[in-house]
Amino acid sequence: MTIQRRAVLAATLVAAAIAHPSAFAQKKIVLGFAQVGAESAWRTANTESIKSAAKDAGIELKFSDAQQKQENQIKAIRSFIAQKVDVIGLSPVVESGWDTVLQEAKAAHIPVILTDRAVDSKDTSLYVTFMGSDFIEEGKRAGRWLEEFEKGKPGPINIVELQGTVGSAPAIDRKKGFADVIGGDPRMKIIRSQTGDFTLAKGKEVMEAFLKAEGKNINVLYAHNDDMALGAIQAIEEAGLKPGVDITIISIDGTKGAFEAMAAGKQNVVVECNPLLGPQLMSAAKDVVAGKTLPKRILTNETVYTQSQAVAALPSRKY
Ligand code: AHR
Repeated sequence: MTIQRRAVLAATLVAAAIAHPSAFAQKKIVLGFAQVGAESAWRTANTESIKSAAKDAGIELKFSDAQQKQENQIKAIRSFIAQKVDVIGLSPVVESGWDTVLQEAKAAHIPVILTDRAVDSKDTSLYVTFMGSDFIEEGKRAGRWLEEFEKGKPGPINIVELQGTVGSAPAIDRKKGFADVIGGDPRMKIIRSQTGDFTLAKGKEVMEAFLKAEGKNINVLYAHNDDMALGAIQAIEEAGLKPGVDITIISIDGTKGAFEAMAAGKQNVVVECNPLLGPQLMSAAKDVVAGKTLPKRILTNETVYTQSQAVAALPSRKY
C-alpha cells in the first residue's frame, strides 16, 4: 500500500470513530454473579468486595442474591445464560446438584468461575477455576488451637458444635477438619452438634437449646462462623454464664464482631476466612475472556487470631 493510500485509510478510520464512537469502544465484560445470600457479616463483606471490584475493573456486574436457596441460584444462572453474559461467577450454597446447569453454561460457551464454596461435580471441566479458602484446614486450625489450649488439663472436655448450612462445603469441611484433629484425644467429646444455618438468630436459638439440655456441662463451643458464635454468646450471657470464661468460644471468619467479642474477653479465638475475593474474581474474569488458562485452584492465604492479636488488629479490620 502506498503512503498516500495508508494516509487516506487512517483518516477514514478516524472519521468513522468520531462519527460512531460506540462501535470502536472496547466491549465491557459482563459478569453474572450468583451469590449465596446475605446470611452473615462475612457474606455482606464478600458482596461489597465483589461490587466495588467490578466497578474498579470496569466490568458490568449482574448480581443475584439467592437467599440461601439453590433453586434461586439455578434460576439466576439460567437467566445469565439467556442474557449471554461473558462469564458466570458462582458461590454455590450447597455442594451437590450442579451438573445439569453447569453443563448448560458449558454448552453455551460461558466460562464459570467458582468463588468461596466448591461443588462436588466429578467433571471439573464444568468450571474454569475455584478460588477461596481451604475449609478443612480451617476446621483443623480450630482443633489444633483447642488441643494447645487444653494441653495438660484433665478431661472430659465437652464440646457443642454449631454447624453451618446443611450440605454446604464450609459446614461439611469445617466439621471434618475439626473432628480429624480432636478425634485422637480421648478427653474431647462433641456432645451436641446442630445447624445454625450460618445466622446469628439461629446460632442463638440452637445454643439456648444446648444450654437447656446440658446445663453447665458444656466446656467449649465450636461455631462454623462468627455470626452463630455471636448469637450463642448472647444465649450464654442470658443463661447467667460467662462466654470466653465458663465456656471457651471458637469460631471461623474473623469479622469485626468476633474481634470485638475477643477484645471484651467473651470469645477466645477466631480462625480467619477472608471474604475479600472481589479483586481476584475480576482479574480472573478478565484473564478468562482474554483466553488465558487459570490455575484450577486459587487458594486464599489466612491465619488464626487469638485475643491479644485481635485487640491489635481491631482498629484496621476492614469487615
Ligand atoms: O462460605 C463462607 C461462609 O459462608 C462463611 O464462613 C460464613 O460466614 C458464610 O455465611
